[in-house]
Amino acid sequence: MNEFRLTQISDTHLARRLTKLTSNFERVADHIEATRPDLVINSGDLAFDAPSHADNLEFARALHDTLPVPCRYLPGNHDIGDNPTEVGAAPECPVNERDRQAYIAAFGDDRWRFEAAGWCFVGLNSLVMNSGLVAEAEQFDWLASELAMSGGRPVALFLHKPIFLNTPEDPELEATAIRYVPFPARRRLTEMLRTANVRLVASGHVHQRRDFTWHGIRHIWAPSAGFIISDKRQERIGIKEVGLVEYRFQPDAFEVRHMRAPGQIDIDLDELLKARD
Ligand SMILES: [Fe+2]
Ligand SMILES: [Fe+2]
Repeated sequence: MNEFRLTQISDTHLARRLTKLTSNFERVADHIEATRPDLVINSGDLAFDAPSHADNLEFARALHDTLPVPCRYLPGNHDIGDNPTEVGAAPECPVNERDRQAYIAAFGDDRWRFEAAGWCFVGLNSLVMNSGLVAEAEQFDWLASELAMSGGRPVALFLHKPIFLNTPEDPELEATAIRYVPFPARRRLTEMLRTANVRLVASGHVHQRRDFTWHGIRHIWAPSAGFIISDKRQERIGIKEVGLVEYRFQPDAFEVRHMRAPGQIDIDLDELLKARD
């Protein structure tokens, strides 16, 4: 296969009672039906909040099963809980093995690797990083061997949280530590990535669209497919809109298209919370 077309969606945050988010998902599904990529990746926060509402995962899975193309998944903090960080308070809902297993039962492995169009594609569980869970150590060992096996081929990495804001050395700030891969795991991850030909790091989580290149590696922040977060709640870094990202990979090259499915609506989180109460 000389060209591999991949669509990244993220932060769908599905729950049966939040019908506006289901509508946005259905607009995305229509667009996928019309464009028929080779693969869809959802980079996490599939569920609105699975640790507190276990049925959200099941509902999200049923909707993804309607997509007419193969799909791969990665967990988000609203699917399996959040990372502990070096600064700031412990997360309200820390990642744990029980929720990780519930995710795996619903969506399959929380990390994966495959090859297409001369590229190696690697998906990571970013939430176990810095957690001390056995799964964290296992994933780092697995990643080291997968990168060693990539043999100089270009690597595209997918994970829920961006690794950093602008550079790997950005300090971890109390207010924003949960936005990125936390230290010291971040250091270990970035050192490991230097051993391979990584060209793309694609993430979600921030609910903002962003596209920048650092030291030859393109960093794409996919927007949420479901909702935006107002400036009152979250600083503006990239573009606050709902949408998706389309990629075309060819041996040693790739293109990125920032897209919005026809009919997708910029729903504000505050609106959803009001509807929920
Ligand atoms: Fe999210
Ligand atoms: Fe998230």
